[in-house]
Amino acid sequence: MGLVYDESQLRDISTRFHIYGQILHAEPCKIGHINETYTATYEQGGNEVRYVHQKINGKVFTKPLEVMENVDRVTRHIRQKLVDAGESDITRKVLILIPSRDGNCFYQDDDGHYWRTYVYVENIRTYESVESTKQALEAGKAFGLFVQQLSDLPSPGLHETIVDFHNVRKRFDAFVMALQKDRINRAKHIQREIQFFLKHESVVRKLEKALASGRLPVRTTHNDTKFNNVLLDAQTQKQCCVVDLDTVMPGTLLYDFGDMVRTTTSPTMEDERDLSKVRMRMPMFKALARGYLEATDGMMTRTEKNLIAFSGKLMTYTIGLRFLTDFLQGDTYFRVHRPLHNLDRSRTQIKLAQSIERQEEKMQAYVDSL
Ligand SMILES: Nc1ncnc2c1ncn2[C@@H]1O[C@H](COP(=O)(O)OP(=O)(O)O)[C@@H](O)[C@H]1O
Ligand SMILES: [Mg+2]
Repeated sequence: MGLVYDESQLRDISTRFHIYGQILHAEPCKIGHINETYTATYEQGGNEVRYVHQKINGKVFTKPLEVMENVDRVTRHIRQKLVDAGESDITRKVLILIPSRDGNCFYQDDDGHYWRTYVYVENIRTYESVESTKQALEAGKAFGLFVQQLSDLPSPGLHETIVDFHNVRKRFDAFVMALQKDRINRAKHIQREIQFFLKHESVVRKLEKALASGRLPVRTTHNDTKFNNVLLDAQTQKQCCVVDLDTVMPGTLLYDFGDMVRTTTSPTMEDERDLSKVRMRMPMFKALARGYLEATDGMMTRTEKNLIAFSGKLMTYTIGLRFLTDFLQGDTYFRVHRPLHNLDRSRTQIKLAQSIERQEEKMQAYVDSL
């Protein structure tokens, strides 16, 4: 984790942006795994108004300018749509970037770090995980609406901010390579898990086939569809908009929807050790699917719709594969807090993928009925 900035440093950063009024105070908001998020409060004509300052993680995003170009285009596009549609409360329905004093959509500090500033959306709540089908419905709506709004983003396509982020074939090849090397002799202890991923290579092939057919369109997708990236109205609990736009780039709907299935349908955490608790809950899936299909509003192709239940298995399989690869390589990528952490994570993904597989037909039948 990077340095946490003190108030005077934050005030200095804050002044680099085109914000009116008098700054009152600034403090950390959330120091997440990826970015550092701070808030600054201003007095503007007798009202207190807040802004979000975020430092971009330069290790994860090696081309911050491309990230910001994407974020700027995407947020402007959605904002213009909302304006054209005569919507009210637009600052709650899309993130608004504040330009820097020199007219960019970011500020680069003396250490070379990139900062951006958003209008703070007030009276919202975010939750770490989905607690009810009502919330699952809102999650589906929020991410569905987002891709729908971006479906007519003019060319050129967005920058690929993390190259091969969703290249399952590459992930699979990396797994096979790690298995062959077996650097720290772990393979012999985890044969069951290894066999699961090898035997399910058909998951990778199914995606490849769909992509090659040309009937699974590459669109502008969010690519980090965790529930804590959905801002919900604190009163109504309805979705306002999605945040965390660093990974918005070309992708398929399957990545977005599938990762929602992976992260919201099981009542457990990603690293749950009691595997008997890990399962795909149909009511959660139904709510997600209903919200997503409603918000994408007929834009999905037949092929996309036919692969919606599969997408959950695809993403769960892919992440499980990555955890096991990291375990084989000696835990060098994902941060671990206990010796078998990556193995535990991989096992929950296997269990969830199996649960999805068992229910896949019923899941798809529900989607088809919508
Ligand atoms: N414009 C905003 N208004 C209100 N809260 C925000 C805003 N942007 C971010 N947040 C809050 O900060 C959290 C972290 O922001 P996010 O962009 O998702 O960063 P990270 O990459 O660390 O997840 C969000 O989950 C949300 O609770
Ligand atoms: Mg986030």
